[in-house]
Amino acid sequence: MVYIEKRYFHYAGVIEVKCFILTGASQGIGAAIGKKLLADNHHLICVSREKNELLLSLADSEKQRIDYFEFDLKDVEEIDKLMGNIFEKISSDVDGLYLINNAAIHFNQPIEETDPSLIARLMNINLVTPMILTASFIKYSKHLNTEKRILNVSSGSSFNLSSGGSCYSTSKAGLETFTKSIGMEQSDVKIMSVRPNKVDTNMHAATENKKQLKTPEYAADRILTFLLERFEHGKTVKAW
Ligand SMILES: NC(=O)c1ccc[n+]([C@@H]2O[C@H](COP(=O)([O-])OP(=O)(O)OC[C@H]3O[C@@H](n4cnc5c(N)ncnc54)[C@H](OP(=O)(O)O)[C@@H]3O)[C@@H](O)[C@H]2O)c1
Repeated sequence: MVYIEKRYFHYAGVIEVKCFILTGASQGIGAAIGKKLLADNHHLICVSREKNELLLSLADSEKQRIDYFEFDLKDVEEIDKLMGNIFEKISSDVDGLYLINNAAIHFNQPIEETDPSLIARLMNINLVTPMILTASFIKYSKHLNTEKRILNVSSGSSFNLSSGGSCYSTSKAGLETFTKSIGMEQSDVKIMSVRPNKVDTNMHAATENKKQLKTPEYAADRILTFLLERFEHGKTVKAW
């Protein structure tokens, strides 16, 4: 694991700082969410394999704080340790703590033609990792008396099935069931899932009719609206 300490935001007196942990911040919807979250009195903690250099360069070091963990989220055995390291960066008087489980992978091929290691990799990144991140987030944030929310980025593919999409659909259906279960189990930490429709990212690189795709910025706006203004504990909703 490589940890990059890029920006420090020193503040005096009582300033309310919201902290956002965002997976998959290097590109696509996650990069757009990260950009929108770069705001005064926000502490952004990003996770992905590749650093988002643009995001890091945009942060105003006087007013914003961004920490970046270059980490491969397929490494499920290391996730709890990652979250422990992340929580070492979080101020004990944080005023609002948010986890956005956005990172995912996608492929389209018949199951019998899919390498077993690829099946396991997808299920780890898309489902097992968000489950462990959720468990660790709840565990490490117990002492923090603030609003704590987890938003899982799902997909309409959880119920809208397609030939070749069994792994992706299964992972997203699992994520939604997990959201509902944790919604029943937990009350201090709130959780929900949001399903974006088709967005112009790498996941739709092969799509010819780009007009039917929304921009990552649009998707990011919708996701953040649900996270900050229209949160529904235990629920899964369409982003638009
Ligand atoms: N695009 C759509 O139309 C659409 C529709 C519905 C739902 N979604 C959901 O929206 C979310 C974002 O999708 P997107 O379209 O923005 O995808 P994307 O452009 O492919 O970006 C995926 C992000 O996940 C990260 N990621 C992938 N594998 C990783 C790994 N092993 N470890 C750490 N990070 C990893 C990538 O970073 P690195 O490569 O740097 O690691 C990247 O930042 C996903 O949950 C997806 O299922 C997308």
